[in-house]
Amino acid sequence: MSRLTAEHLYKVFGRRPEAAVERLKGGAGRDELRADGAMPAVIDASFEVEAGQIFVVMGLSGSGKSTLLRMLNGLLEPTAGRVLYDGRDLTGLAPAELREVRSRGISMVFQHFALFPHRTVLDNAAYGLEVRGVPREERRERAAEALELVGLSGWDASWPDELSGGMQQRVGLARALATDADLLLMDESFSALDPLIRRDMQDQLLHLQKQLKKTIVFITHDLNEAMRLGDRIAVMRDGRIVQNGTAEDILVRPANDYVASFIQDVDRSRVLTAGAVMDPAAGPAPEGAATVAADTPLADLFAPLAKDDGPVTVADEHGEPAGVVTRDAVLAALGEQPAEVTAHA
Ligand SMILES: Nc1ncnc2c1ncn2[C@@H]1O[C@H](COP(=O)(O)OP(=O)(O)O)[C@@H](O)[C@H]1O
Ligand SMILES: [Mg+2]
Repeated sequence: MSRLTAEHLYKVFGRRPEAAVERLKGGAGRDELRADGAMPAVIDASFEVEAGQIFVVMGLSGSGKSTLLRMLNGLLEPTAGRVLYDGRDLTGLAPAELREVRSRGISMVFQHFALFPHRTVLDNAAYGLEVRGVPREERRERAAEALELVGLSGWDASWPDELSGGMQQRVGLARALATDADLLLMDESFSALDPLIRRDMQDQLLHLQKQLKKTIVFITHDLNEAMRLGDRIAVMRDGRIVQNGTAEDILVRPANDYVASFIQDVDRSRVLTAGAVMDPAAGPAPEGAATVAADTPLADLFAPLAKDDGPVTVADEHGEPAGVVTRDAVLAALGEQPAEVTAHA
């Protein structure tokens, strides 16, 4: 299946990039190299993206996210290191082979992608297939399916300027989905949208992912978005991955002060889940106690917990009881005083 592996990837722009990589490996700093005219954009990035996962790369502007992403699909050649996709070394492929892998298996969704104003929504969604030489009937059929997946059925014959910004971004997603690519690379795809529509798109992506099980690398500068979407999150700073873990790892065990400074703004009650704070060893909750899914955010536990003031049962993905959560456990995980929480429960 479509597992993606990055092994010690480096990208240095500017003067003598290979020499710069050797100096980085020898412990030279980024500023030192910059002074000599080399610009290290990605430094020693290694990670694995399991098939069917959403892997988020999060970092401030200029931290190297887009450069990293463009090496993953061969748009940029690494200065050093390898990219393996489905066990094939993309960095070693001849240009024709690379084009083939890219066009069959990998789709990109950008932040600002252009819809063609004089093509219908359907023909815009079919564009990726047209480039690949898929016959007209087949591509229209597949594009229509993709539009349905992103909630745009009925808009096939509309023109782009009849759609809101959020809907246009959905057409971009449909275009990528229509190609059947197993690997989606999304570079700040939702960053230009206003907050409500953005949340809506995040929900849509999570919902789609449950059915489609693509392998997704999603780039964002927003930690809340990273935490909502990512099965794993890599945090980048100045070209390096400074932490790679689950949302919970990052929230509960930040690797350094830099990561810790980011998570201050994160709404813990939305990121931490019932499964993370439950006690698996506790006996069954009292008869009649509410049951919640393990992925229920803590914020949504206050209502069921308040109902009969008792613990709730947490069910695993098969619906079997996996543990119980008490109100005290939720409060402790949020680090809040009981009184404050009662106020907004
Ligand atoms: N083609 C290029 N030539 C020189 N420097 C570049 C080039 N592309 C990116 N950079 C530099 O590399 C660093 C990382 O850029 P980028 O990957 O675009 O970061 P991000 O996507 O996280 O904002 C930035 O300092 C940027 O100026
Ligand atoms: Mg970028």
